Amino acid sequence: MKRILVATHNPGKLKEFATLLEPLGIEAVSAGQLGLAEPEETGTSFAANARLKALHAMRASGQAALADDSGLCVAALNGAPGILSSRYGAGDYPAAFQRIIAAATAANEWRARFVCAICLATPDGGTATYIGQSDGVIAPVPSGGAGFGYDPIFIPFGHDRTYAELGAEVKDRISHRARAFAQLQARLKV
Ligand code: IMP
Repeated sequence: MKRILVATHNPGKLKEFATLLEPLGIEAVSAGQLGLAEPEETGTSFAANARLKALHAMRASGQAALADDSGLCVAALNGAPGILSSRYGAGDYPAAFQRIIAAATAANEWRARFVCAICLATPDGGTATYIGQSDGVIAPVPSGGAGFGYDPIFIPFGHDRTYAELGAEVKDRISHRARAFAQLQARLKV
């Protein structure tokens, strides 16, 4: 089985990448498993941060590396927390959910979008970046136990339950990560 380094320390992301890569006969090995440090995310866009993480992991390991930078953009917060999603609420997700629900309620504006940039960095220094997004609304009450991060407050369009309620089987078909990955897939098959 081929292996690829996935430049993340986030177990939720790693699990989703492992599920996406498995049908291609590729095993995901995480930067955390290899003990690689995480670079500072100094980029001002999802794409810039995905690229700097992928290049950092590729240079540290000498092998091809895949990185993802992703987040939730909330219309009532003018697109925040966006690239700062992992820091919003300082790791206290229940508190972050309540802030987002309060903002959506106050503005009566429930639309939100998950965005994911995936970058593949190869040992020759080349990079290829793909963006996927998934549109939906904020749930008025957090629900469900599957997934990670903001999954309990995001209801994708076309569904009436959150990602955390829908579970991996549905999320892995329609998510921002799956959509970015679908674009990369053709490249990985080469
Ligand atoms: P990053 O590691 O800087 O890319 O931060 C990504 C953050 O965005 C995660 O820690 C989550 O808070 C959020 N996020 C990204 N993708 C998802 C997802 O699929 N579900 C829930 N939250 C996500």
